Amino acid sequence: MASLINRTRDVLSRWRRRFRDDLKASTDASFLTMPRFFGLLYGPIDRSLPIDQALRKALAYRLPAHVGWRHALGGVAYLLFMVMVVTGVLLSLHYRPSSEEAYGSIQHIVTGVTFGWLVRDVHVWSATLIVIVVLAHMARVFFDGAYKPPRETSWLIGLMLLFVVLAFGATGYLLPWDQWAYWTVTEVLNTIAVLPLLGGVIVTALTGDAFVSGATLSRFFALHVIILPWIAFALLIFHFRMIRTQGVAPPRGKAKSETEGHSFFPHHLLRSFLVSVVVLAIVISLATLFPRPLAAPASPVEPPGELVSTWVVVDVSLALIRFFGPWGFALFTLLGLSMAFIPLFDRHPERRHRPVTAVGVVFFVGFAILWLVGHQLRFAGPDVGAPTATEIAEPAQSGLP
Ligand code: HEM
Repeated sequence: MASLINRTRDVLSRWRRRFRDDLKASTDASFLTMPRFFGLLYGPIDRSLPIDQALRKALAYRLPAHVGWRHALGGVAYLLFMVMVVTGVLLSLHYRPSSEEAYGSIQHIVTGVTFGWLVRDVHVWSATLIVIVVLAHMARVFFDGAYKPPRETSWLIGLMLLFVVLAFGATGYLLPWDQWAYWTVTEVLNTIAVLPLLGGVIVTALTGDAFVSGATLSRFFALHVIILPWIAFALLIFHFRMIRTQGVAPPRGKAKSETEGHSFFPHHLLRSFLVSVVVLAIVISLATLFPRPLAAPASPVEPPGELVSTWVVVDVSLALIRFFGPWGFALFTLLGLSMAFIPLFDRHPERRHRPVTAVGVVFFVGFAILWLVGHQLRFAGPDVGAPTATEIAEPAQSGLP
């Protein structure tokens, strides 16, 4: 018996060695860019070395000593993004993007598919959490002065990522095709339509019809599952690449990071992992305790008596629209967009010197207050521009229902 065990152990260990040698011979150090893209590796990869030595060298890379818990926020935003990709792919197996079938397919996911309710509500709650985490990450970068030269491009790409995260949420919001989704999207599009210059063009391109219809649902679905994911991955690769090339910004009061701290692996990865576990526990708890209910199926002729917002950015948008009108909405959006130019005006190398602090404070505090206020709103807005019965009977352009 003992000799059988020894022989088996011998065979297994020879096979393990052979597998390792084959793997080493068939791959080179470039393969390590893959775990690096997934955020598991940070240090530079020495492509001149065999893969195992390159891995050891990359793992030994040390981050500057000032890198701490607040630097985990970018990684948490990335994890939430990946959670949304995985749950989104699972949802797309059952979702049907047509005005006749969308509502029924969501009902089926929630009631007829094993754990469908969990997958759907983790997706819905992650959409709120990712906005909060990305804004927290942006605030960290802003108040650390980490946007200053030479990191203007990382900041700009970051802002584009924020825009893409918001676009994901906005396009996904219509997909359940219930009264809340339908009339919220109608109200926001009607608001954008009255803005001069680009307002009408944007709304026509997004709606694809005279009002929010099956054509709009097709466009939102295509943006949500085809166009935006490609843009997001391209921007993420660019963002991560810039961060690695330039290194983490030095602490305030210093021109560059002097001391080496912990290694990325396992210390910083563990830090990001711990925060991520907490965030995931929050997402799963929220998804279980507060699932997003479905309102009645969308009816283009009859606005709902009650309109409940189910996404943080809708809270903010509705607060702006209801209290400040289209111009309030436009001005807050412009304030957000103007943040792209901050590194162009604030080029002072000293990170404690931030003449633009007020802009950030107004943006972040404003967002939080509008969120709190908007979350209390429970009524449908005035149905400005709701389609007439004739428009419904004769849909323009596309001829689709
Ligand atoms: C999906 C959205 C985003 C993801 C996944 C992401 C991810 C990351 C990661 C992993 C880091 C390195 C660790 C850290 O500093 O936290 C980072 C750094 C950075 N991010 Fe983002 N980010 C996102 C959005 C943003 C936004 C909205 C901005 C600003 C407008 C931004 C600007 C920056 C800058 C300037 C750095 C370098 C900071 C430094 O060197 O200290 N990012 N990002």
